[in-house]
Amino acid sequence: MGAFGIDDILARHVGQEQSLIEILHDIQLRFRHLPQETLAEVAGHCGVPLSRVYSVATFYTAFSFTKKGDTVCRICMGTACHVKGAQLIREEAEKVLGIGAGRTTSDGKYSLEVVNCVGACAMAPVVIVNEAYHGKFKPVELKKLLGRGE
Ligand code: FES
Repeated sequence: MGAFGIDDILARHVGQEQSLIEILHDIQLRFRHLPQETLAEVAGHCGVPLSRVYSVATFYTAFSFTKKGDTVCRICMGTACHVKGAQLIREEAEKVLGIGAGRTTSDGKYSLEVVNCVGACAMAPVVIVNEAYHGKFKPVELKKLLGRGE
């Protein structure tokens, strides 16, 4: 067993290349990043070269090699959300958290990300905090949503 203890995650998935994304997703959820030490284990389990694991891990923005904040705030910048004011939400989020998109606050509490369409255009504009979707979102609601006063 490796230092990060992912045996239970691997045991839940069949050892094949098709399981790669789901395994990485589970690891990301547990550790809030993909510890490099786990990737060789994943490669071995799925029977693929380590380079294949890296190429999948770097392709999807949901995966990260650096630890994300306790709260991850994602702002959808897809077309539907963009025309409904996503840019204003982004600016408000950057102001409220004091960080730019793609960053984590120095206390490790918040990460801010912008993402492409998350498939909930009917609810545009959309903000996702951890796994929870918030639709028809207004910038003024952000402070409360993130627990930063008001
Ligand atoms: S563009 Fe934001 S959910 Fe589709």
